Amino acid sequence: MENKIKAKGTAQLTVNGETYEFPVYEGSVGPDVIDIRKLYSSTGLFTFDPGFTSTASCESQITYIDGGEGTLLYRGYPIDQLADNASFIEVAYLLTNGELPSAKELEEFDWTIRRHTMLHDQFDQFFRGFRRDAHPMAIMVGTVGALSAFYHDSTDVNDPVARTVASHRMIAKMPTIAARAYKYSIGQPFISPRNELDYATNFLRMCFAVPAEDYVPSPTLSKAMDKIFTLHADHEQNASTSTVRLAGSSGANPFACISSGIASLWGPAHGGANEAALNMLREIGSVDKIPEYIKKAKDKDDPFRLMGFGHRVYKNYDPRAKVMRQTCHEVLDELDVKDDPLLAVAMELEKIALEDEYFVEKKLYPNIDFYSGITLKAMGFPTEMFTVLFAVARTVGWIAQWSEMIDDPSQKIGRPRQAFTGSPQRDYVPIEKR
Ligand code: SDX
Repeated sequence: MENKIKAKGTAQLTVNGETYEFPVYEGSVGPDVIDIRKLYSSTGLFTFDPGFTSTASCESQITYIDGGEGTLLYRGYPIDQLADNASFIEVAYLLTNGELPSAKELEEFDWTIRRHTMLHDQFDQFFRGFRRDAHPMAIMVGTVGALSAFYHDSTDVNDPVARTVASHRMIAKMPTIAARAYKYSIGQPFISPRNELDYATNFLRMCFAVPAEDYVPSPTLSKAMDKIFTLHADHEQNASTSTVRLAGSSGANPFACISSGIASLWGPAHGGANEAALNMLREIGSVDKIPEYIKKAKDKDDPFRLMGFGHRVYKNYDPRAKVMRQTCHEVLDELDVKDDPLLAVAMELEKIALEDEYFVEKKLYPNIDFYSGITLKAMGFPTEMFTVLFAVARTVGWIAQWSEMIDDPSQKIGRPRQAFTGSPQRDYVPIEKR
């Protein structure tokens, strides 16, 4: 990665009667940044920014979000154009290589990914160690981390060839592992990947085929799955991507880093929101109960939040939600799911929330998780699998961001400081004197 950030002037800070100057840099689009790398050494002060609401952790050239406009760009290309025109594998090439592939490049990349989808025969033993009712995200965290026990030849993060092989292995094997986690949870035999199938079709077949009867998804369902992967592929420095970067900054191997990203994504405030959003719709149950839940969402003393609404960056409609909403209706039409009560609740909830002054004032719009849950449920996935599908897609973004971090000359091991408010030094008190 070549650092392209450009000097644009300086910022002054006056504190304790002293004035300090820090460089201001500009990127290609988005807010300028103040370089505070020398803040502590020159002022003895730290910045304080829990949740990193105003902190750029890195320079990146992969994904850009304009939260005010509600736009999302993968290497400069708008998400709706990619979702409508590119396959997920094409998007995976774009995110990891920086440019759209030529026809030949795409064919070679696709050929390579299709031939890394199998797992070591012994790997399948890991699944047997879990209870059948284990949450599939728990299985994903455990088994993906175990990949580093199998692929020693691609764990040297300083070897570009090993990094490329590990990247291909991660992108290719996540669907196989995810499908196995699902099959194991329902007590069905594992279905092997097939090289003649595209990424989304292969995944759906591994999930829904059985030895007694094959499963060939309709082109509409394959396209919908492919589009859902594209929509979830990357999203700047979100919690799970930042986790992968921080883990990778110590030189940890890529499989362990991706496993840490899966663990972070699992949280209901992040990737677990699609599962939480569907459970919320089930809890609301009917349109007439919506006002009661809107009231709870506004109540500061009530921990309830409208899952699938709000976003740290988007203060406009999540552009992915727009595409997800359209895909949701395409899937429901294809499967002839007309009177899904959860969809009726979702549509009325969206309408009310978009008109309610609390949500309008706080710019709480539906995010991608609001519609993905309904779509995935209609496609036959249990709620517990929703975040697993998110992890399959986001592996491409995690890999792209991890590779960029390794190649970034300005990166070093991440080691934040703190504002300490605990006890100053004190002497040990023998137990007989306490
Ligand atoms: C994802 O970062 C990413 O890019 C994530 C993601 C990705 O692709 O990686 O986009 C995927 O995680 C999408 C978000 C999915 N999460 C949910 O849908 C869970 C519900 N949403 C909230 O938990 C919340 O909106 C967050 C966590 C998404 C964002 O929270 P912030 O930015 O920290 O904002 P906040 O919690 O400070 O809320 C601001 C105000 C607060 O009120 P005040 O204290 O200012 O009075 O808005 C309120 C909050 O109480 N609020 C909500 C709300 N979300 C925020 N009130 C009711 N319902 C909600 N959903």
